[in-house]
Amino acid sequence: MITEAKVVEILNGLKEPFLHKTLEELNAIEEIKIKEEKNHVSVKVAIAKTGTAEQLQLQQEIVNALKEAGAATVGIRFSELPSEVLAQHQTAQQEDDSDNLLSPNSKTTFIAIASGKGGVGKSTVSVNLAVSLARLGKKVGLIDADIYGFSVPDMMGITKRPVVRGEKIIPVERYGVKVISMGFFVEDNAPIIWRGPMLGKMLNSFFSEVEWGEVDYLLLDLPPGTGDVALDVHSMLPACKEVIVTTPHPTAAFVAARAGAMALKTDHEILGVIENMAYFESKVTGEKELVFGQGGGDKLAEELQTEVLGQLPLGQPDWDDKDFAPSIYQEDHKIGKIYQSIAEKVVEKLG
Ligand SMILES: Nc1ncnc2c1ncn2[C@@H]1O[C@H](COP(=O)(O)OP(=O)(O)O)[C@@H](O)[C@H]1O
Ligand SMILES: [Mg+2]
Repeated sequence: MITEAKVVEILNGLKEPFLHKTLEELNAIEEIKIKEEKNHVSVKVAIAKTGTAEQLQLQQEIVNALKEAGAATVGIRFSELPSEVLAQHQTAQQEDDSDNLLSPNSKTTFIAIASGKGGVGKSTVSVNLAVSLARLGKKVGLIDADIYGFSVPDMMGITKRPVVRGEKIIPVERYGVKVISMGFFVEDNAPIIWRGPMLGKMLNSFFSEVEWGEVDYLLLDLPPGTGDVALDVHSMLPACKEVIVTTPHPTAAFVAARAGAMALKTDHEILGVIENMAYFESKVTGEKELVFGQGGGDKLAEELQTEVLGQLPLGQPDWDDKDFAPSIYQEDHKIGKIYQSIAEKVVEKLG
């Protein structure tokens, strides 16, 4: 013979399969009836989604537990939890799929680095912004989405290749940044001839088949211009932020504006403009020469109604033969410090 108190005790301890809270916490037991003569227990329980495999499993759990406690037969009905209960406990669900980067609950901010044309320093900016964010203690990933023109592994001096664990690709870590690039999957620098839909598939697998773990910022080094990949990123990552790189020449800014216009059209928020190769500063006299013209960054920022996040002069990192990363500026390098201030601005803007 089973008592109602015993039934309550058993049900209270069981977990709702979607919100992962106990039935007691969710106040989910709606009815308990006991027919003493037949030793039959019937209960009504509310869960987040009825008619699901999870419901079936909970049903089995309830039947087993009640029979073990002495019930001869058990009847169960399910209803759906009221929306205010669901809303109140949504956080449990958020934790659940936060490791899926593309889920709306993902805690990862995507930042695409775009430019109107090649050769303006988009990849240089991508790798250095990523490293600078990591130097600020952030968890950072970098996708080299320039699938034909990948250059991130070489620029960062990455010689390792990603390993596969289970079904997932583990990104290569360098300077605290988790990196994935098409270059990792190509033999002997062979050219890639995939087209159209393959691009989107490749990009998609960079999100879903790579074990990113917890990342605060995932940067994407986009191919130059406004082609397929840029479009795929726009449709795959509706909440993506963008940084536009240009050189100071007014015509470069004009071309970059197209990339910016595309970002705006697809509702991607533009964080700002970075003007690269802004000037050359003589080590001897300290004089600044505007080798590639001037005003491009300001003009572009004005056009896109955003700000110039920083101006980077011409200059190479100090090369260290023992730890070779040809495009990464050291933290105490003049240009490294400018990158650091840009990274701080980005963090601040993203709150
Ligand atoms: N501020 C800079 N000073 C000197 N060289 C630079 C600077 N920025 C980029 N470069 C060089 O210019 C070339 C093009 O840069 P890259 O980042 O590959 O451009 P993109 O990705 O836009 O094609 C590379 O050789 C890079 O090392
Ligand atoms: Mg590039």
